Parts: sequence; C-alpha cells; structure tokens
Amino acid sequence: MRKKVTVVGAGNVGANCALRIAEKELADVVLVDIMEGVPQGKGLDLLESGPVQGYDVNITGANDYEATANSDVVVITAGFPRKPGMSRDDLLLANYEIVKNATEQAAKHSPNAILVLVTNPLDAMCWAAQRVSKFDRSRVIGMAGVLDTARFRTFIAEELKVSVENVTAVVLGGHGDTMVPLTRLSSVSGIPLSELMDAETLQRLVTRTQNGGAEIVKYLKTGSAYYAPSAATIEMVESILKDKKKVLPCAALLEGEYGINGLYVGVPVKLGSAGIEKIYEIKLSDEEQAMLNKSAAAVKELVDVLKEKVGA
Ligand code: NAI
Ligand code: 2OP
Repeated sequence: MRKKVTVVGAGNVGANCALRIAEKELADVVLVDIMEGVPQGKGLDLLESGPVQGYDVNITGANDYEATANSDVVVITAGFPRKPGMSRDDLLLANYEIVKNATEQAAKHSPNAILVLVTNPLDAMCWAAQRVSKFDRSRVIGMAGVLDTARFRTFIAEELKVSVENVTAVVLGGHGDTMVPLTRLSSVSGIPLSELMDAETLQRLVTRTQNGGAEIVKYLKTGSAYYAPSAATIEMVESILKDKKKVLPCAALLEGEYGINGLYVGVPVKLGSAGIEKIYEIKLSDEEQAMLNKSAAAVKELVDVLKEKVGA
C-alpha cells in the first residue's frame, strides 16, 4: 500500500515539502490549510506537474482533516513565519493555538502517525504537540538540527572551497541563537576543523550558523527560509518512510539524556519507521555541556510561558 503524508500548512515550507515528497515519490500527499482554495489549488498544481516531472503520486488539498485519515506521517508547518525584527520567540503564543488545533485533528484522524513539527518556535511547539497528542516521544519529532547543520556545512564548505559533500557537522540544542554547533565533532573528510581554519574564522562561521534563519529573513523581508527547511524536513520524512535509520540531529523530548528532563532539545537520533528509535548521548566537554544547558534553559523559558499563559 502507498504511504500517505499529510502536510499541515500549505504555505512556503508546506508546499515545498509536498513538492519534494512528490519528486521523490515518497508518498501520496494531503495538504491542509485554513485558507479556502489554497491547499486545493496548490495540490492540483503540484499534481499537474507530475506528467512533466515524471512523478506519479496523488496530491490533494483540503481545509479539514477528513481526507488526512490514516496518514503515516503528519508534517506540521502551519503558523506564522518570523518577520524582520521579530524573534522566533515572539511567535510563541500565536503559533501555539495553531499547532494545538493541528495536533488534535491530526491525532484524531491518524492515531498511528508520526508527527514532524516545523512551526516555530520549534522546540516549544514540539513540546505542545507531544502534550496535546499524548503520543509516545518517539512519534513527535522536531525539524531544526538538519537545517542548522546544513547551514553550518554550507558555510564551512564555502570558506574552505571544498565540496559540501565532504563536510560533516554536528549541531545540538534548541533552534535559536543559543544552538550549539559542536565544532570538535565537525570535520572535512575526517580532518578536524581546528586543523583547517583558525579559531576566529571558526567562531565567525558558528555565529553565522546561529543567526542563519535571521540572515534569510533580512533578505526576504516578508517571510523566512523555505527551500532548505523543506529539504531538511523531507530528509527526516524519507528516513522514516523508508526505515533508513539515518542518524540526524532532531528535536527530541529528553527524559534525562544530557541531564535534561521534560524538554525538546536538538540531539542526534536514529530515525526509522518507528520514529525516533534511539537517542545518541555524546560525551560532552564541560564547556559544551554548559552551552547545551544554556540552550535548554532558553527552551524552558518558552515552555514555562506556555504553562503559565495557556495552562498547557
Ligand atoms: P507561510 O506563511 O508561508 O505558511 C504558513 C501557512 O500556515 C499559511 O498558508 C497559513 O494559511 C497556514 N495556517 C495558519 N493557520 C493554520 C491552521 N490553523 N491550520 C492550517 N494551516 C494554517 O509560512 P512558512 O514560511 O511556510 O513557515 C511556516 C512555519 O514554519 C513558521 O512558523 C516558520 O517560522 C516555521 N519554520 C521553521 C523552521 C525550522 O527550522 N523549524 C524553518 C522554516 C520555517
Ligand atoms: C529558520 O531557521 C525561520 O526557523 C527558521 O530559517
């Protein structure tokens, strides 16, 4: 039987997720959005690309969740993107209501689905979706680390004028300015970065990675990034649908790992058909652990706001 993926939010990230799923022929897609006609129109437009692009999957759009029943994966991108001068955190309360509603509907119609969250502020939205769905933590996963790592890899490759394919990088922590690019474990074909560039250059790339989302917002002015975010999301979805068991940095609910409890934080996980099949605990230096703790504290601040303001 064909796999089925629901993408909630037919905006920039959502529509590009649908396109990438179709181009890879991973699954049939249902796009859901509150804007009347938009998911239907984009769904049909994507479907009509099939004969030219050479893909054969069904793509439909809807304003409710009937058609999403029994999806294998539900990607939640619904919400407001960040505007210039607006932090990811400003989005918190507005996007909470949207994610809560999307999660309730998704869980009702697809009780066995794996939820992949994209909406910002990412780590807090994951926490809300897990609470609302009551799904096991293995089935509620956030996309951020794959994107942040892709950005770090891009900047390293650009700096060293080497193929991005040879660059591996590790980024931990929340999806925000406090994310922790683990320079010690990042390399070019196994050669540590410390042997390839001086500390000042490396720090410049780390800072650029931490501000990677804002850099794009500054250019676009009316929205945030969507090509790399959709690519990152679909790498996760593909690993789940094909049970590839890729090891990817994803936001996962930690229950004591890295000394963190009850919060979503970006860590390396194994992604397969059961969702998160393993969380890898890397032995961190004291300095790295302190940075991760700081990043987790930033996530906690948002979760505390949710607990206080909306009784989540
Ligand atoms: P967009 O504005 O292009 O699309 C959002 C869509 O959500 C709109 O079509 C809107 O009508 C829809 N929507 C709003 N409320 C809804 C509801 N209750 N049910 C269904 N659909 C609803 O925004 P874009 O660029 O697609 O970004 C979406 C979200 O993803 C934003 O919160 C953004 O900050 C986040 N994002 C997160 C990334 C990450 O690394 N985790 C990367 C890029 C974006
Ligand atoms: C990004 O990092 C906005 O979170 C989004 O591009």
